[in-house]
Amino acid sequence: MDKNQELVNRRKASHLGGGEQRIARQHEQGKLTARERVILLLDEGSFQEIGQFVEHRATSFGLDKNKIPGDGVVTGFGTIHGRLIYVFSQDFTVLGGSLSETHAAKICRVMDLAVKNGAPIIGLNDSGGARIQEGVVSLAGYADIFYRNTRASGVIPQLSVIMGPCAGGAVYSPALTDFVMMVEDTSYMFVTGPNVVKTVTHEEVSSEDLGGAKAHAEKSGVNHFTASNDVEALKKVRDLITYMPQNANELAPNPTKFEFTNSKLSTINDVLPENSTLPYDIRKVVECVIDDNSFREVHEDFAKNIVVGFARIEGKTIGVVANQPAAMAGVLDIDSSRKGARFVRFCDSFNIPLLVFEDVPGFLPGTDQEWRGIITHGAKLLYAFCEATVPRITVITRKAYGGAFDVMNSKSIGADLNFAWPTAEIAVMGAKGAAEIIFKREINEAADPQAKWLEKEAEYAEMFANPYRAAERGIVDDVILPSETRAKVIAGFKMLENKAETLPYKKHGNIPL
Ligand code: HXC
Repeated sequence: MDKNQELVNRRKASHLGGGEQRIARQHEQGKLTARERVILLLDEGSFQEIGQFVEHRATSFGLDKNKIPGDGVVTGFGTIHGRLIYVFSQDFTVLGGSLSETHAAKICRVMDLAVKNGAPIIGLNDSGGARIQEGVVSLAGYADIFYRNTRASGVIPQLSVIMGPCAGGAVYSPALTDFVMMVEDTSYMFVTGPNVVKTVTHEEVSSEDLGGAKAHAEKSGVNHFTASNDVEALKKVRDLITYMPQNANELAPNPTKFEFTNSKLSTINDVLPENSTLPYDIRKVVECVIDDNSFREVHEDFAKNIVVGFARIEGKTIGVVANQPAAMAGVLDIDSSRKGARFVRFCDSFNIPLLVFEDVPGFLPGTDQEWRGIITHGAKLLYAFCEATVPRITVITRKAYGGAFDVMNSKSIGADLNFAWPTAEIAVMGAKGAAEIIFKREINEAADPQAKWLEKEAEYAEMFANPYRAAERGIVDDVILPSETRAKVIAGFKMLENKAETLPYKKHGNIPL
């Protein structure tokens, strides 16, 4: 046979993966193949494959007669919007996308290249887990990947898209990466599946309820982004990556064009309700400050009492962290602290400035929170802000009470600029509770204790339910009109563009995990 023709044939065999029947089954399930996914993810014609002829070396259980070139994972590099990206995409049509020694080695190879060349890596996961016929070498292969995920953490962005099964120890590679995206109905993640759950805890639960996209988006927080199908997932990843730099030494790309609707400068004045005890959607405030249509919310369905996400200000990527008065009054609890902390650390790792909107009544009281460790988890958010060296600006829209005031990027923990709106209330606690404690005797001894309480509450509110005590002390840098927020934030980040701050020498910090 002509040698060139042999290559063409071999390529065809590799591209066919587990064969037409299995490809058809994949399509019937609403899933694309590994290769189709890579093609859609990357810029047209940019994919360069590495290792398409790699085969496994196993011989047990008839595997020596079941070799498919590529061994169940498509690996290589290409570009997204012209920027270098490394990718691996597991092929479920080949032995269920199961991970063999050589399959793992292919993934490790692109991970190593990604780190050496300072470019993000995107993993498209669709696998039945460890290749059962291979035994321990497959487990070692997983460990090789976990090790690299951890070593690459904070060096290059790592994104995981779950597009099929991801079970057992296999879940820990996505968990070690920066962001997880799951596809509705076709993907699931769990450490042990429904059958094991039933045996051990006698619970009856479906794969979807146990570890589907919705469960992990709302309950566990493992899933940061949900997509309704493969095509939407890949589009979302292409968009998301534009908010991130290539590596920890670079800045996110700066699109030259941006739009801002000027009427939002007046809309913002009407977002807050007259009555300061009523809720409002902090996202409306965020939208009035950032470039049009630039907000990409992370963890939208998890711990809704805090809102985090990427946005752009005059084209430049920023990270937004905002208390959400529309959910549990914006209180900080275990989940919202974890969510906020993780996002802050990603932004700080990758030179993304932080913009914080603060309206927080405090930490959530109760035995549930205390016994599950709100002290440790709340400290995560505190720690994350304290160690962040990126430019940091805070805007206090309304309540900034108690320890939560300190935690939410206060100046004392390193915020560079701290603004307050005229509606800000900055105090140790709300006026009602404060009056009850500090005027207890006067209230109890009064002829009309209720009236006295109200009088003292008003006195305390007069003193602290405003931003001026804090401004007098320089605890906030300026009191600004809501309509001035965008301009102040733009000027602030411009001023901070060359900020250079280094942490004292350490091997690494010890964040309260
Ligand atoms: C080898 C596997 C495989 C695996 C699936 N296949 N999983 N081969 N090792 N882990 C093969 C099947 O034999 C089948 O081959 C093809 O892939 C498709 O599988 P089906 O079962 O027909 O597909 P489906 O009905 O869609 O079910 C998918 C599945 C199921 C739910 C993932 O295959 C399954 O339960 N697989 C085993 C999952 C598992 O227990 N993995 C080990 C987890 S422990 P043919 O030739 O018929 O097409 C683990 C530890 C990691 O991963 C630890 C890291 C530290």
